Amino acid sequence: MMIAAGPETRTYAEELSAKITSRTARVGIIGLGYVGLPLAIEFARAGFAVTGVDLNAGKVAEINRGRSYIGDVPAADVEQFIRDGKLRATTDFSAVRELDTINICVPTPLRKTKDPDMSYIVSACEEIAKYFHPGMLAILESTTYPGTTEEVLAPMLSRDGMEPGKEFFLCFSPERVDPGNPQYHTRNIPKVVGGMTPACTEMGVRFYSQALTTVVPVESTQVAEMVKLLENTFRMINIGLVNELAVMCDRMGINIWQVIEAAKTKPFGFMPFYPGPGLGGHCIPIDPFYLSWKSRQAGIEARFIDLAGYINGQMPEFTVAKIQNAMNAAGKPLKGARVHVVGVAYKSDIDDVRESPALDIIHILNRRGATVTYSDPHVPELRVDGMALASIPLLPAAGDADCAVIVTNHSAFDYDGLLREAKLIVDTRNALGRVNSEKIVRL
Ligand SMILES: NC(=O)c1ccc[n+]([C@@H]2O[C@H](COP(=O)([O-])OP(=O)(O)OC[C@H]3O[C@@H](n4cnc5c(N)ncnc54)[C@H](O)[C@@H]3O)[C@@H](O)[C@H]2O)c1
Repeated sequence: MMIAAGPETRTYAEELSAKITSRTARVGIIGLGYVGLPLAIEFARAGFAVTGVDLNAGKVAEINRGRSYIGDVPAADVEQFIRDGKLRATTDFSAVRELDTINICVPTPLRKTKDPDMSYIVSACEEIAKYFHPGMLAILESTTYPGTTEEVLAPMLSRDGMEPGKEFFLCFSPERVDPGNPQYHTRNIPKVVGGMTPACTEMGVRFYSQALTTVVPVESTQVAEMVKLLENTFRMINIGLVNELAVMCDRMGINIWQVIEAAKTKPFGFMPFYPGPGLGGHCIPIDPFYLSWKSRQAGIEARFIDLAGYINGQMPEFTVAKIQNAMNAAGKPLKGARVHVVGVAYKSDIDDVRESPALDIIHILNRRGATVTYSDPHVPELRVDGMALASIPLLPAAGDADCAVIVTNHSAFDYDGLLREAKLIVDTRNALGRVNSEKIVRL
């Protein structure tokens, strides 16, 4: 059916498709964080004029000055696209009036009760809705429970009876970015997209195909929402399994790391996951609870998720118990001792401490009367229990402490120096896996 786009005879779909393929569509990215800024850069690189909207005036000013605050986004790219007029940032949502497409990349945290906190999505959509107009494509990228796009976004954006697939286009596309990954980044990670109608999916595919290498269409927004939750739940449960095995192996005196190394020589039917001091980051510890919340509403308890959540949640305590036992064995009780934490980011070679197990470990160590210091070349400052800590050089601090605990395996650490100078090392990441030393206690 032809839908009139104003006085012309072209449909909204035809008009927007033409703008997208000629790369004259004006692209908007709402939320310029770890997800939004790299996406904005890729569309600017593809030749689109991109407007980023963020409530954080500091971030907006940084971008407009040609600077980057995201490790994976080179400042040179931001500077070039700002100079070429391909990128600009604003705190003013009225910019949406001039846009043809918007990608929503705002946070989706959990409440303390582990219920989804939709407030960022809702408040961003309330602002967008004021300026949303016929012929626009809106895509939600924030991780969320299945049904959000259709149940929350569609009613907010269907102004004046506008219908998805006709007067506007609405999709969900899960973001799969892996900060710090040198091989896979926003452009070359396959992009799954599902629309509310076939016309919406088609528009989403057309849009992403301009800037990203591979686009994978799925038949609905719900399928696309569920894809992300399957991926992250798969990781969370497998990490939970291997953490449980690590605790068992510890009790039985078996080296779990050697078990995994040997198991992964099987060329089919096995995928290695590694134990550690606890889950971290914005995704794996959080996203599966979006699914369990939704599933509970459908009358199904997500038992695997709850169990893995419990086991993973115990790992910081288990790590501190290892530290305490190792120190007792060395004749130095934890209370009153100095413990140096080596790495506080939630994973190697990045600067993100969100949900990092280091925060829990430092908290528990403090509670048990230890004095805690830390080194992290990517995290100069840290707040734990309301106290500000500053990173100090690994050496001599790790040598001065009674115990050094490797929580994050950053490649910049001088492990030879650590091994030489530390009195006792608790290694939760197998960073010193190739070394045999009585000083080392492994997870
Ligand atoms: N970081 C990752 O590795 C990753 C990976 C995959 C998916 N995700 C998902 O992507 C989404 C965004 O995550 P992120 O890591 O980029 O978060 P982030 O905190 O780095 O960035 C979010 C940005 O949104 C801005 N913002 C908040 N409320 C806003 C509003 N109402 N209007 C405009 N801007 C607003 C914030 O100022 C911030 O700059 C989340 O749902 C997350 O779960 C993140």
